[in-house]
Amino acid sequence: MTYPSRRQVLLGTGLGIGAGIAAGLTGGSPFRAALATGMAPLSPDTTELSSTAGSSDSLRSLAARRGLFYGCAMKSGQIAEDPAFTAAVVADCSAIVPEYELKRVITEPAPGRFDFSGADRLSLFATEHDMLMRGHTLVWHLANPAWLETALADAPSMKAHMLDYIGTAMRRYGSRVPVWDVVNEAIAPEEGDFLGRRIGSPWFRAFGDGYIDDAFHQARDVAPDAVLAYNDYGVEMSGSWYAARRRAMLLLLEGLVARNVPIDMVGIQGHLIAFDKPFDEEVFARFLADIAGMGLKITITEFDITDRKGPADPAVRDAEVAALGRRFLDVALDCPAVTGLLTWGLSDRYFWVPDDPAQRPPEGQTLRPLPLDENLVKKPLWNAIADALRAS
Ligand code: XIL
Repeated sequence: MTYPSRRQVLLGTGLGIGAGIAAGLTGGSPFRAALATGMAPLSPDTTELSSTAGSSDSLRSLAARRGLFYGCAMKSGQIAEDPAFTAAVVADCSAIVPEYELKRVITEPAPGRFDFSGADRLSLFATEHDMLMRGHTLVWHLANPAWLETALADAPSMKAHMLDYIGTAMRRYGSRVPVWDVVNEAIAPEEGDFLGRRIGSPWFRAFGDGYIDDAFHQARDVAPDAVLAYNDYGVEMSGSWYAARRRAMLLLLEGLVARNVPIDMVGIQGHLIAFDKPFDEEVFARFLADIAGMGLKITITEFDITDRKGPADPAVRDAEVAALGRRFLDVALDCPAVTGLLTWGLSDRYFWVPDDPAQRPPEGQTLRPLPLDENLVKKPLWNAIADALRAS
């Protein structure tokens, strides 16, 4: 299997990983990519049947037909432990992202002692099923091993702890991971910084906000062909908290672009809350246009819709989640810079529940934020995603 260069990926002329995905990375046409690669646009892997058994309309094929990709977050243990779930991933997804096994607390538990076994297993799975694997993430203020937190506090000059790791992780996967979230969640207006920077980050405290520029320059030096992304959350809905975060993200991105920092893409996580703040199509569309206007591509990287604030009746929650999901995706998929969509999981059977007690569901209620229910049956949200892809 050959892999696309960064330029090929961004121009939608990817090789090897399926014209549909390669084109999808850039919002290009699968047919243009197919012409460039001599490959038919990606077709769903129907060798393993699952929730979309017999359906020609898997999310994977619906996305590929529009030069987009659809994928989900996964854990390597699910491959061996849950073949039914894994089959559902293969049927619907043309991309995956490690939910936590490519985070530094897992990959470098002690200085210089690495464990990429989980991400390696996911990378093999992606290769076996002609899927793109996103690298998530290289520099984050969370999920760092204790030794690193200490080192950064004690020796602010130790930028090597960041730069060397970027080299280690990116060189390990090379073109098998064509897109990386180089920096994750570096804005936090709620922390009081006048520019909305996450001033509480151990990276900011150690190196100042120049760490972001340095991380992207290092990533480009190490892997010139990789697509380099900045990834963040809390920019989707209406209201002052979201508006402040949108302003902070645009300020950050404008600075990076103005300083010729090598950034190619923005990941918008898309963790939405139903029955909460309103969603304003025009506000979000303008925000996406502002990002696209900087020449950056966009991926919705962690889409899910928590329904913890909804009523007890799951049918009512499912309907509202689907309605909000469709409205959000209609705007996102209408933006030419958007290259694809990943949900933060595929089935409610495995949903990340944040540690924050305020994000847990009421007693006796389970969260239903993902396209398939805990029995891998399609929910209204699955149909909303499919309909948004058809309409895009
Ligand atoms: C979360 C995972 O889902 C958890 O399994 C892990 O323990 C912590 O990280 N935004 C992000 C993701 O960018 O990396 C986070 O993933 C969820 C919030």
